[in-house]
Amino acid sequence: MGCAKPPNERESKIMVKVTIEINDVVHDADVDPRLLLCDFLRHDVRLTGTHVGCEQGSCGACTVLFDELPVRSCTMLAVQADGHAVRTVESLARDGGLSKLQQSFTDCHALQCGFCTPGMLMTLTPLVESGQRLSDAEIREAISGNLCRCTGYQQIVDATRHALDG
Ligand code: FES
Ligand code: FES
Repeated sequence: MGCAKPPNERESKIMVKVTIEINDVVHDADVDPRLLLCDFLRHDVRLTGTHVGCEQGSCGACTVLFDELPVRSCTMLAVQADGHAVRTVESLARDGGLSKLQQSFTDCHALQCGFCTPGMLMTLTPLVESGQRLSDAEIREAISGNLCRCTGYQQIVDATRHALDG
């Protein structure tokens, strides 16, 4: 006779219907209510550009735009995105061309291993798209929640400045 699984090993039988606009495409899905938004994006929608590092809201690698504001997708559930719009790093390049910020990252050598890059880009993109003028100190403040293990922060600031001024 088998033993009942402890509660944390039981599979949830409850699935929740969600409708989420992702990169201008509407996705209808049935999701486990415990599913993280980052896992939904990577595993269900197959948008693997969103990286997962710490899974506890510390590193910023998983940053996406939620209704055009940067959020850490490892600290949100997919069900919380129901009825909302999400943009991932895959939305940035259009018609075969890099976004202005992506091109600046390339030109200014603002990535080394590239693991933090999607999160950096999604944190900085609203600032670049808004066209506002920012000091280097304000750029550093904007990315203060995004960790780069390769520590290439100066080039990231330079690339952002280049995109803002370009
Ligand atoms: S993976 Fe989400 S903040 Fe680190
Ligand atoms: S480029 Fe390697 S973690 Fe930032």
